[in-house]
Amino acid sequence: MAHMIVAGNWKMNASKNAVTELLSGLKHGAVTIKNAELVVFPPFPYLAQAQAELTGTSIHIGAQNICAADKGAYTGEVSLTMVKEFGVSYVLVGHSERRALYAEDDAQVAAKYVAIQAAQLTPILCVGETLEQRKQGLTLSVVTGQIQAVIDAAGGASFANAVIAYEPVWAIGTGLTASPGEAQEVHRAIRAHIASVALEQASGLKILYGGSVTATSAEELFAQADIDGGLVGGASLTADSFLAIGQAAK
Ligand code: PGA
Repeated sequence: MAHMIVAGNWKMNASKNAVTELLSGLKHGAVTIKNAELVVFPPFPYLAQAQAELTGTSIHIGAQNICAADKGAYTGEVSLTMVKEFGVSYVLVGHSERRALYAEDDAQVAAKYVAIQAAQLTPILCVGETLEQRKQGLTLSVVTGQIQAVIDAAGGASFANAVIAYEPVWAIGTGLTASPGEAQEVHRAIRAHIASVALEQASGLKILYGGSVTATSAEELFAQADIDGGLVGGASLTADSFLAIGQAAK
């Protein structure tokens, strides 16, 4: 099987010193990771530091968010052209914190996804249901609906150059993880949904699981047929715990 992706979403954490320590640990440890591509998503101010430290290593750099417009009067926003100058190759889009705290809707998520691909970067499209939606039995319809909004805007074939991250909202930062079986059920439904519009792209599509992933839970999650790696928040903030998740990729 093709390699997995283990992505570390630092969110709004770290400092110059913490970034130096974390990246140095990751650089030394990355040689022990055989079956996963590591990607780090630092806050914007640390992208230059990440580029300086990681150029020439196997670790990739991602951006946590992006503006769909390329330049101009968008106070506080950051463009794809800018992050590309700092070696970014992946961009998160549709993270539940962006959807919930900054009211990003499916249309905005789709516009960002299209812009990311137009800039020749790879979007990591995040989808997931709330606890309330899961209790109501809406998990699969919510998740496939979020994906369909992107298919409507970009087409199924666009998933040739995209990654999906399934992150149940109730599992993010809570210490609760979907069981491997629960996660696999959703991952399989996601792949089937993509296959219904783009059969060829579906089989190679990387679908990451996210939500309180630790080295302990990663092994069994990564062993599921349709789980191709993880999007890791809290456990990506120290080199040892992030590397241990990378090692869980077999
Ligand atoms: P968590 O975050 O691992 O801290 O739950 C995952 C995410 O939000 O990507």
